[in-house]
Formats: sequence, structure tokens, C-alpha cells
Amino acid sequence: MSTFQPTPTKPWWASAVIYQIYPRSFADANGDGMGDLSGISGKLEYLAALGINAIWLSPFYLSPQADAGYDVADYRRVDPLFGDLQDFDEMLSKAHSLGLRVIVDLVPNHTSDEHAWFQEALASPSGSPARDRYMFRDGRGIDGVEPPNNWRSIFGGGAWTRVTENGVPGQWYLHLFDTKQPDLNWENPEVHAEMESVLRFWLDRGVDGFRVDVAHGMVKAAGLPDWEGQTAMVSGDETNTLASQSPAHQQKPAMDPPSPFFDQDGVHEIYRAWNRVLKEYDGDRMLVAEAWVEQPERLALYVRPDEMQQAFNFDFLLAGWDAQRMAAAVDNSLLANAAVGAPATWVLSNHDTVRHTSRFGLLDPTAFPKGISAEDEQPDEALGLARARAATLLMFALPGSAYVYQGEELGLPEHTTLEAAFRQDPSFFRTNGVERGRDGCRVPLPWKASEPGYGFSSGTPKEGGHAAPWLPQPPSFAHYAADTEAGVAGSTVELYRSALEVRAAHALGVGTHAWAPQHDPGAGVVAFSNGPITVLVNAGSVPLDLPPAAEVVLASTLDSVSQGKLAPNSAVWIAS
Ligand code: NOJ
Repeated sequence: MSTFQPTPTKPWWASAVIYQIYPRSFADANGDGMGDLSGISGKLEYLAALGINAIWLSPFYLSPQADAGYDVADYRRVDPLFGDLQDFDEMLSKAHSLGLRVIVDLVPNHTSDEHAWFQEALASPSGSPARDRYMFRDGRGIDGVEPPNNWRSIFGGGAWTRVTENGVPGQWYLHLFDTKQPDLNWENPEVHAEMESVLRFWLDRGVDGFRVDVAHGMVKAAGLPDWEGQTAMVSGDETNTLASQSPAHQQKPAMDPPSPFFDQDGVHEIYRAWNRVLKEYDGDRMLVAEAWVEQPERLALYVRPDEMQQAFNFDFLLAGWDAQRMAAAVDNSLLANAAVGAPATWVLSNHDTVRHTSRFGLLDPTAFPKGISAEDEQPDEALGLARARAATLLMFALPGSAYVYQGEELGLPEHTTLEAAFRQDPSFFRTNGVERGRDGCRVPLPWKASEPGYGFSSGTPKEGGHAAPWLPQPPSFAHYAADTEAGVAGSTVELYRSALEVRAAHALGVGTHAWAPQHDPGAGVVAFSNGPITVLVNAGSVPLDLPPAAEVVLASTLDSVSQGKLAPNSAVWIAS
């Protein structure tokens, strides 16, 4: 009798490498200067060849685009900017045929003010069922001229806007983000029912999961109490803006009182219900939380067995290029996730952050600026890229699931000199430009170095050629174009391809992390093994001795290893 015991297989998401597509900026198939679903379909072979396992699409739903689609007017329709439902179905079926899973974005904290529900609320009296789907309140002070509380919008300015009723000022509504993004009332059962129906709509079409926007934000503290803390997606991150980089500002601020609108215990009930919805479907469907919750133990609550499957690891993203912070983020995440039996996740960049290639090239490579413009410190592009590639080798060697933001496989830098006239992010306008905003990481991808718009647009050119990409690309993008890097030894895209190949061959995603003898974060060295691979990261300033006769499997650049030493700002995978 055989003693062979098959290892119980883990669901796909436990170890998947998930590539974030920002549809506006990925690929434009109809030549209008805006990316679209058909553009994505046309590049799926490229993604499959890269070695990723799944794609996550930022919103492509009907929207006035006040926050680039995170203001949804109809959760069941595709915005004509991006195509239609048939284009979506074709993209989904092609992705599946190539073995790629597809995750879509769900934005449940708020709708667009152009959503039918909000329009109905505006046309209905205070106290009506239509108003109760949102957070309408009477104002304070004489005639209600003061907002109901002192909350600030995450994008700057107040979090309340007053509406007009029969020609006179009336109630106020809450918007944690832009005025055009009214918060839904998650105390209202109709809101729960509607969002579950939206989940089913996309699950029925065959999507493999949802990235849940502001997953820590839907429930607000009873009575909506005033709050004196700092309003930001993650508390304390204002201290990391470029404008405040004096050493005094780099210490962690005093702890704010807990926020009344983030990470309320009540959110977990919502995810338990959604977990049950997903269970009705086959194929290990999943939910990933965008929850800027600082304490790993609090974040882990979102991925308990009856809630979501994953949560983004912003602790890792915020660590920057710093051995001690990276090592601590790894330790804390592995520990907190293990406590609830969930796989860890890893991420370095997304559409809300300055690209890590550029952050890592700043004088303080742990800074977390809210955008960069020509007046700010300009990153050292080559240094940032070298460090970014090393951080990638660190990330891909870790067990769990890794997220890649479109263009990072090309080593794309942030557009750091984008002129104000082109900026579109509401946070830029709501802070009068103090926050430069997120446009610099959302610039359309360069596919072909020698074509206009670096080949972002294809399809039949209109008379006079393709429209210009919706955000201008910096000239440096020519060096990073996909066709320039393809097949070139030492290019960033080939590093990603090789690393993903080795990761898959050795099943590192379901492997086991163990700190290696060389691990010495105080000296700038992060070192661990996972199965047959040991990764050494040199974030210090002196070359690091490799073990004698080390067999180098992969190095972050062609000249990272020389005479048995690993150069600073480099990483290497060696055979354990
Ligand atoms: C988080 C999204 O990632 C961001 O782009 C958006 O502006 C806010 N949530 C509001 O939906």
C-alpha cells in the first residue's frame, strides 16, 4: 500500500502574483488616448508570458470620473470610456483561457453623486428612505450653517457638503473623499442587499474576486463624534510629505485617538456576509481588503477564516528602502497572518502611491510623499531603480501572494515633473496643490519606444492620428518601453520574468520563510531562505560577502555580484 499523502493544495490566491491594471493607463485599443478593456485583452499574452497568475482591474464602471472611476454611478455598467460588458466578457474569457484569474474593484464606501440613489436622495425630503441610504445630517449652529461634525476629507477640506432643498440651504451629507463621492449608510439593510447583489452580478459573469476599496471605512462610530486626529488613509502619513521632511518630522507622531470612521469593529459583519456569498460559488473566489490599518493584529482581523481572503500589506509598502523596517514588516506580517491562518501579501506600489522606484531614489528612501512635482526634490533615478529591483527580489522570495503595479516590471519611475495643468487628482485641487497628487504614478504605459505616445494607443488611427495619452509621458519613458526591454539580458522586465519563473518552479509562494545566518538589519542586510533559495539584500553601504562558492541563481542587476561580494543597493538569490 502506498504511504503517499497528497499535500492538501492551497487555494490559488494563497500564493498568486497579482498584477494591478489601472485601465485608464494600461493600453488603448481605440486610439482615443484613454486605456480600455480591449486594450487589456490585447496585452494578456504579454502578462501571461511575464509569469503573473492574476490581474486586478481598478474601476471601469460607469462614472463621471471625478476620482478616476472610484466614484461609481452604476456598479453594473461599463463606462463607455473603457468599452462595454461584451468587451469585459471577452477580456475575462481570454484571461481565463490563458490561465489568468481576474479580480475587479468594488467601491462600497461611497457612490458617485451621479448614482441614481444619490439623485433620488437629493430629490427627496430629509428623513426619507432615499436619504437614509447615505449619511445625511442636519447642520449645527443657527440655521444649521455649521457642518454636523469636524471631520475632514481624506482629499483635503471638509468632509461635509450642504445641499439645497427647495432653493434654500438644507441638510449636509458626508463624503470622506471628494464632494462627488457621498458615503453610503451601512446601517441601512438596503445598502447591504444592493452591494451583495452587485457581488453576485460580477461573480455570475465569472470574476475570481474583488479588491474592496476603503475596506476599513464603511462603518462609522455611533453619533459621528468629533475627532481631533489627523485625517489620512493611514494615520501619521502627513508627516511623510516632502514639505515636511525635516528630521524632526521623521519621528512617529504621538498616537491619535482612534478614528471614528476607520476600522470600526462593525465592518467585520459585512465581510462575514460577503464570505457567505462567495462560498455559494465554486473556484476559490476571493476578497482582498484595501484597509490602511496600521497594527498588523488589527489588519489580520480582516482575514479571519470567515471574512476576507487577503488584505494588502501597507506596512511592507511603507517600510521604504530600509533593512530594519523591511525586516520588521516581514516579521510582523508573517506573525499576524499566521495567527489567523491567512497567507501574507506583499506590495511595493499601487495607483495611490509614488512609484517605489522613485521613492527609493530620494535622500530619505523611506519617505512617503503625496506626489512629486518639479519644485520638489527630484529622485536619483538610477539609484531608485537599483533598489527597486533588489526589493523585488526580496518580495518575490517571500511566501504568500505578491502584488505588482503595472509598469513596475519595466522599472518605470514616477512622472516627477508633471505640470499642474495636466493634473487630475482631486487631492491636488482640494489641497490647493500642497499635495501634488497621484497622477505621477498613473501615466500611460510605454509599449513601443519609437511610436507616438510610446505605443500606448493602437487601433485604427483617427484622422490626424491617435489622440494624445490622457496624461503626458515624460521623455525618459522611451528607455523603459516594453519593446526596448523585451529579451534584453539585465532589463527589468527580464528580471521579473526570471524571478517569477524561479518562484513558480520552487513554489516559493507556498514555501516557508526562515531568517538566514547573514540576516543583520542593523547593518543593512536582510537575508532569509525559502526552500532551496536564499535571498540576500544589501541595503547597507558596504559590499557584502557572499558565502564561499555561492551558486547565484539571480541577481538584481548584471553587476550586483563581483569577486564574491554583493554590492550595496542590490539583492541576490543563491541556491541554499
Ligand atoms: C482608495 C483608492 O485606491 C483610491 O484611488 C481612491 O481615491 C479612494 N480609495 C477613494 O475611493
